[in-house]
Amino acid sequence: MELPFAESWKIKMVEPLRKSTREEREQWLKEAHYNLFNLKSDHVYIDCLTDSGTGAMSDRQWAAMMMGDESYAGSASFFRLKETITRLTGFEYVIPTHQGRGAENVLFSHLVKAGDIVPGNSHFDTTKGHIESRKAFAIDCTIDEAKDTQLEHPFKGNVDPAKLEKVLAENADKIPFVIVTVTNNTAGGQPVSMENLRAVKAIADKYNKRVVFDSARFVENAYFIKTREAGYADKTIKEIVKEMYTYADAMTMSAKKDGLVNMGGFIATRHEDFYEGAKRFCIPFEGFLTYGGLNGRDMDALAVGLDENTELDNIETRIKQVQYLAAKLDEYGIPYQRPVGGHAIFVDADRVLTNVPKEEFPAQTLAIELYREAGIRGCEIGYILADRDPVTRENRFGGLDLLRLCIARRVYTNNHMDVIAAALKNVYDRRDEIKHGVKIVWETELMRHFTVKLAPITE
Ligand code: F0G
Repeated sequence: MELPFAESWKIKMVEPLRKSTREEREQWLKEAHYNLFNLKSDHVYIDCLTDSGTGAMSDRQWAAMMMGDESYAGSASFFRLKETITRLTGFEYVIPTHQGRGAENVLFSHLVKAGDIVPGNSHFDTTKGHIESRKAFAIDCTIDEAKDTQLEHPFKGNVDPAKLEKVLAENADKIPFVIVTVTNNTAGGQPVSMENLRAVKAIADKYNKRVVFDSARFVENAYFIKTREAGYADKTIKEIVKEMYTYADAMTMSAKKDGLVNMGGFIATRHEDFYEGAKRFCIPFEGFLTYGGLNGRDMDALAVGLDENTELDNIETRIKQVQYLAAKLDEYGIPYQRPVGGHAIFVDADRVLTNVPKEEFPAQTLAIELYREAGIRGCEIGYILADRDPVTRENRFGGLDLLRLCIARRVYTNNHMDVIAAALKNVYDRRDEIKHGVKIVWETELMRHFTVKLAPITE
């Protein structure tokens, strides 16, 4: 008999989980104004809010922390981190930052000015925020296939080369760089193919523009290239990563995802002028160039995490767990962004809660129902997150309305995946009875989803 697939690690330290009653959860929901960001984590049974900074470090990472050199300048930990990044990506210049948005802030302070245009594939919120706060524009050139959740496409995170070329041809003088997010979080953790990375680089070269990878989940992306793209099945993850970065000039990194640490980030580049420019902003915003807001021990843990995650065993265990959960949802007929991506399931709430009108926020309603059902916390990536149109102040109902269920790295077992799937099925089975959603009672102008106060609509 062929042996089944199993995790490539065993567990050395555990943390208790607390269950709660439906009555308790009802009360906590009320106190949280039906915004799951306001819940105490003690009141959550399985937390699928994000895969960012929520993973478990390995014994080797914890051991590396003891080697941390806390010198203000010239820390040995920095040089170990730099050596690892250079070896994996080929980028010679490295600037550490406290997390991904810190890297964006430092690099974009050098590169982006008012009136600029930064084309890319579904810029992440903070990336878009750092572009728009500089009065520049983020233009989304993701392929149209990404908008149809039921369409099967192996690389739904791809940039549409025709859309990109058009933006470049029309605005060449206003474009500081092209950004490619690997994997494409907003489109559902969807990968970008090597062929597409190559094509983007060729188009950018034609207009003499540089390419930056937003690299938060670059290892997940490499795994999908290995398993889905012709010619890569026999290459190692490290070889694929190395090739990916030959099509980039620089990267911003949130190490809280594929760096396997709880906090951290960095910028890396092959260009001295990018490095010299960004350096000027690292010191006032993040700290001296050899720590950038991180402890020495954080940099050591990150160096080991990057090496560890770019080994097939580790990344395969991660992706297969997400795919295991997706297969359960297939069994129950629950619609999500297909095929499942690397870090999360994105349930298509519009297709589940068909009785809840858009104006009553179906994905947020589904998030609330799943918490009510089993204490599982997901995250709305939909109409609340989309904020209002800055000019008309109307809600933006044009995009997808999804419930994102993120899977933390090396934290939950497949038994927890079974619980998530069963809880979602219970909600799905009573979907026709759910006729009303929520209304907004208080909100901020930008990024309202973090603090919004909601109330249930009863009739
Ligand atoms: N880029 C991508 C693609 C991300 O997903 C994130 C964070 C960032 C940049 C910013 O990095 O949080 O370290 O400052 N994503 C988290 C999430 C918050 O839940 O998807 P950060």
